[in-house]
Amino acid sequence: MRIDAPTRLDAAMTEMAEAIDRQFDQLLPLPEDQRARLYAAMRHAAIGGGKRLRPLIVKASCDLFNVAYESAIRTGLAVECIHVYSLIHDDLPAMDNDDMRRGKPTVHKAYDEATAILAGDCLHDLAFSILVDERTHPDPFARCDLVKALAVSSGPAGMAGGQMMDLAAETTRFDLPTVTRMQQLKTGALIAFCTEAGAILARVPEDKRVGLRGYAHDLGLAFQIADDLLDVEGDAEITGKAVGKDAAAGKATFVSLMGIDKAREQAELLVEQAKAHLHNFGSEADLLRDIADFAIRRQH
Ligand code: IPE
Ligand code: IPE
Ligand code: MG
Ligand code: MG
Ligand code: MG
Repeated sequence: MRIDAPTRLDAAMTEMAEAIDRQFDQLLPLPEDQRARLYAAMRHAAIGGGKRLRPLIVKASCDLFNVAYESAIRTGLAVECIHVYSLIHDDLPAMDNDDMRRGKPTVHKAYDEATAILAGDCLHDLAFSILVDERTHPDPFARCDLVKALAVSSGPAGMAGGQMMDLAAETTRFDLPTVTRMQQLKTGALIAFCTEAGAILARVPEDKRVGLRGYAHDLGLAFQIADDLLDVEGDAEITGKAVGKDAAAGKATFVSLMGIDKAREQAELLVEQAKAHLHNFGSEADLLRDIADFAIRRQH
């Protein structure tokens, strides 16, 4: 029986979601002291509900170069730590002030703001302690490269920098190149790390990563356009988070600048381009191709 693309991807996504939940469960046992609340908040945010698309991209990129499963899953877990931390802080009253995330109350709602800030901080730190552990890769140079790449993609030249631009997008006039740059940093940088992680772990030279970087660039933008479209057209029951927030905040997004139809057209074009960047790979890149299709087909 031929397994069609959605089924193959669904199976991979479910498997990854279960693996990441298991890893977080083992990583975050509740201590028997005053820190229990902090750990409980981290568990609340980290376990259950996420699509785990970033760890899946890591795994797909590792599949290209036959990287060991343990290396792939630990690197995926590290990225998911950064991603979850970014979501906890993104939802805070000082940022997007959201009450729901992944179908549950946000961390500052279920706990309190101070605990949410600390839970985010700790997940950020956890990411790097996972990467520097020998179990992630036996070669310290590979681990160092991973740490550097994840730090750069999370920091002021990556996700956090994009979040700063995103705050300005509520009060400043943004043109399309500026929105594009904001989304590249805010969402694209971490996705680019995931895409390149397999090459880093396999010690593939930088000049052999051009196709992967092109794929990541286009996928990151398409993924964020889909997020912006879901904010306009999505169903909060399915997305697990509030919708209509960007327009209410007067935030510049692809959708506010281009309109719904053009934004979707652009996202579709980007997905085709992303897949075209993989032309040097054979069926070993099919998971990356499926992920690109899913990035804009998704309802959540
Ligand atoms: C949401 O990311 C925030 C963005 C960067 C667009 P996801 O859509 O991957 O959210 P989860 O991890 O599945 O909850
Ligand atoms: C958040 O972007 C991206 C992050 C780096 C956390 P959004 O604010 O659009 O994400 P959602 O819509 O709340 O998930
Ligand atoms: Mg935000
Ligand atoms: Mg938000
Ligand atoms: Mg959004």
